[in-house]
Amino acid sequence: MPAKNPTPKHSSAAAIDALLDERRSYQPSNEFREKATIRDESIYAQAITDPEGFWGKVASELDWFVAWNRVLEWKTPDAKWFLGGKLNVSYNCLDRHIRGARRNKAALIWIGEPGDRRTLTYWDLYREVNKFANALKKLGVAKGDRVAIYMPMVPELPIAMLACSRIGAVHSVVFGGFSAEALRDRINDQQAKVLITADGGWRRGQIVPLKHDADEALKGTPSIEHVVVVKRGEFPMHMKEGRDHWWHRLMDGISDHCWPEPMDSEDMLYILYTSGTTGKPKGIVHTTGGYLTGVYATTKWVFDLKEEDVFWCTADIGWVTGHSYVVYGPLANGATVVMYEGSPDWPDKDRFWQICEELAVTIFYTAPTAIRAFMKWGTEWPKKHKLVSLRLLGTVGEPINPEAWVWYHENIGGGNCPVVDTWWQTETGMILISPLPGITGLKPGSATKPLPGIVADVVNEQGESVKVGGGYLVLKRPWPAMLRGIYGDPERYREQYWSRFPGLYFTGDGAKRDADGYLWLLGRVDDVMNVAGHRISTMEVESALVDHPSVAEAAVVGRNHELKGTAISAFVTIKEGKDSGPELAGELKEHVVKKIGKIARPEEILFTADLPKTRSGKIMRRLLRDIAEGKAVGDTTTLADPAVIARLKTKYEEQES
Ligand code: PRX
Repeated sequence: MPAKNPTPKHSSAAAIDALLDERRSYQPSNEFREKATIRDESIYAQAITDPEGFWGKVASELDWFVAWNRVLEWKTPDAKWFLGGKLNVSYNCLDRHIRGARRNKAALIWIGEPGDRRTLTYWDLYREVNKFANALKKLGVAKGDRVAIYMPMVPELPIAMLACSRIGAVHSVVFGGFSAEALRDRINDQQAKVLITADGGWRRGQIVPLKHDADEALKGTPSIEHVVVVKRGEFPMHMKEGRDHWWHRLMDGISDHCWPEPMDSEDMLYILYTSGTTGKPKGIVHTTGGYLTGVYATTKWVFDLKEEDVFWCTADIGWVTGHSYVVYGPLANGATVVMYEGSPDWPDKDRFWQICEELAVTIFYTAPTAIRAFMKWGTEWPKKHKLVSLRLLGTVGEPINPEAWVWYHENIGGGNCPVVDTWWQTETGMILISPLPGITGLKPGSATKPLPGIVADVVNEQGESVKVGGGYLVLKRPWPAMLRGIYGDPERYREQYWSRFPGLYFTGDGAKRDADGYLWLLGRVDDVMNVAGHRISTMEVESALVDHPSVAEAAVVGRNHELKGTAISAFVTIKEGKDSGPELAGELKEHVVKKIGKIARPEEILFTADLPKTRSGKIMRRLLRDIAEGKAVGDTTTLADPAVIARLKTKYEEQES
């Protein structure tokens, strides 16, 4: 392993210090480079020289009913893309493929958690979407109406989304793991007319009672006129006469042709609520032409998509990753998409690898939280399966610790699949910072560089560019799939994203730029710790901990300390079969000192089997901070498993006494 520099680099002008020095790097193999979809670096220069010409050319690969007359209108903070253009998203994802050789290509290979399987070809998917589009029309849904979707990961979920897009209705998918209360708030915020749900779904062998929870929500949602219910199993539930309709009954005998509504490029495609780790959910608005252009292009470029690929993005469609890279991006490209209903450890911890082997998956895209769980479970699970079909791996959702990146590269990718670390947000709609796997040299833990056409920067408190070092990640030019606002709240849109640095989009993330111009994401700026005048990102200390061979996952927080001002508390999960104890705690503290310096030495280490996470798998550090400071724990509504916090609190108090 190359040497790592243990000296912290601190300059008083830096908004965030750059401490960790990761020197490993990986070049694309000649074989990969030669076959890559994007192998010519000139794409970056083309995008800089003529951004509008560049995006116009990309957009022209889609099918438009009416061509646009202007690529971009930009009046900060409002962007319009492909003005005057008309298109339909479902048409681009289906109709244009069924005219040719893709007609009987698998569009969707779906695996249910209990082991059931369905394959829909493009032709099958086309007909199902057309039928359901007609069913929605029959229920009175028209262009511009909002349709809420609260479903398990079953094929009817993408079918419903595509059907909405076919008739110009705006969908809003609410993750099936959310509570009745969360569903009700989201339905009311957008005044949805119809709710699509299911009797239930499977998760870790248990029934998720979706219809039951939906009924709870529907007690306070006066805008809902109809509820459509997919029959997933024999789950006990109640159908309300006149309001509730079985999906299969609506589809019975209905026409399988529905004209696609020509949508204006700036017509709304969907609303997706994001709360991040704090605050009231925001209804992020995405529109039609720019969004589809962005996800179409990035799927092709970043995942090096080829006709014969089998593409598996493990995200739930309830998150933006599922919208952009399970549904719209891959289907717009005519790809074969894998969709799995359940949990990665059901019935055993090799479920993902068993699916990869069974379906000969070639591209696999998941989140760091999952990768850290795989690390914790051990290599015996992937070793049970032949993963030879894999040729590209991806990650998204949080910064990936370099050690987790290397583990993924070696143990899942067999050492020869590029790993694309893709940075983006619900708000950005599409991947913005990522390697192009046939061109970019990879550094574990770095999302590398902005994609062609994307202008990102790292700035200090004053908004000045930091050439090398840490600061705030901003975006300087509009991009096609960017959010068009927060539903019903233009003021919050300005305030949240455009007020911190006037004229720039503030991502809320910290980042550092190294001497090669590579970007390293440092997590949310709210999590940055101020230790003795140094602004330290939690990410760097966590990565130093995960670098230790016994550690699978770590979360650190800065807590108030009488003498030091701020002290670092670390919460650490160790790999299965390793021993935790006072010796290991001491060893880990020294490991951090060795990797990044004394300044980052944790004051205390607490071993824990689980960390508190949002339902999408992001660590909620603010709750850990409350625990470390002995305070009442703050708002836990976005937490996936509240029991984790109760256990941690008891353990922390025991250790302290
Ligand atoms: O903090 C960044 C982190 O996830 C945030 C966006 O979260 P969300 O809207 O839920 O979308 C997640 C899927 C796109 C970002 O502000 N994040 C996402 N990808 C990365 C990341 N942090 C570091 N590296 C990434 N690759």
